[in-house]
Amino acid sequence: MDLTTKYLGMTLKNPLIVSASPLTAYIDNLRRMELAGAAAVVLPSLFEEQIELQGMGVDKVTPMNQKNLPDALQHLPEMKGYNRGANGYLAHIYQAKKAVSIPVIASLNGYYSGGWVQYARLIEAAGADAMELNIYYLATKPNISSQEIEEMYLHLVRDVKAAVSIPVAIKLSPYFSALANMASRLDNMGADGLVLFNRFYQPDFDLETRGVVSSLDLSSQAELRLRLRWTAVLSGILKADLLVTGGVEQGTDIVKSMMAGAKATAVASVLLKNGIEYIKTLLTELEEWLVAHDEESITGIQGVMSQKSVTDPAAFERANYMNVLKSLEE
Ligand SMILES: Cc1cc2nc3c(=O)[nH]c(=O)nc-3n(C[C@H](O)[C@H](O)[C@H](O)COP(=O)(O)O)c2cc1C
Repeated sequence: MDLTTKYLGMTLKNPLIVSASPLTAYIDNLRRMELAGAAAVVLPSLFEEQIELQGMGVDKVTPMNQKNLPDALQHLPEMKGYNRGANGYLAHIYQAKKAVSIPVIASLNGYYSGGWVQYARLIEAAGADAMELNIYYLATKPNISSQEIEEMYLHLVRDVKAAVSIPVAIKLSPYFSALANMASRLDNMGADGLVLFNRFYQPDFDLETRGVVSSLDLSSQAELRLRLRWTAVLSGILKADLLVTGGVEQGTDIVKSMMAGAKATAVASVLLKNGIEYIKTLLTELEEWLVAHDEESITGIQGVMSQKSVTDPAAFERANYMNVLKSLEE
């Protein structure tokens, strides 16, 4: 069975990438992922604020230095345990490249160019095969328009792309008024790939303490559908490669994502729940499905469910929605 696919100009041995999470923070885990069959790994994100802090010569926020820092940096938690800090991150890339022969993708999380551009160069020099920019910005300010936010994203991509020659993928959220337009502008700005989608952290309330409870819930398979819809809508329109992340739990989810037009899929939650070796199960399920359906390669099914043949996907969606409602009457 030929499972090879091309993502960001790299030939992957199959369409299963391990997404950014604490699992990829350990070299030993990366080796186990490669052994289990992963086609590439994405390292945990380094946060823009960490780079900024380092640029100011501050190792970590303490009660002593806190009040001298800009507001945005005053409450920064110690993240070294998660991603090794700004300097340690470069060493992690280097070690990861020595440990495994599959592509290693570095990840930056932020929302404005700042120190990213310089850092992106260092990430490239440390040996990363590609870079994921996770643009994580919650648009809470009523005086900042969607246009300004979109410009901010586009400038970020322009600046990072101008600084490095490795491929750059953008990990996006689905919360844009005109997602297809935004995706196409990122595409025109030179994004090599779009990663659909980022999951926003959603804190809960503790009713007794009236405090905010931080929790990062693992995803559920139901989240895949939003990804399938947008991958199907965008895959026929863009030059950039699409990567599905969110809700991939079974081999058939990889099949669906590829049919929608993705070049590959990425998993985190399913491995956090079932362990790294679950990669083997996913790949076996994928192969079994392809064999049972007389497919000889993964590329054979790529994009067969893309909406590129539908002239107006929005009208098509509305008609489908009405059909679903009608079926409830029967
Ligand atoms: C505990 C945890 C940590 C994560 N850390 C990162 C991160 O550092 N950077 C990032 O881009 N995504 C991060 N993610 C998001 C995952 O990479 C992935 O895109 C998301 O969880 C959806 O995929 P899944 O359904 O397979 O979990 C994290 C997810 C989890 C559950």
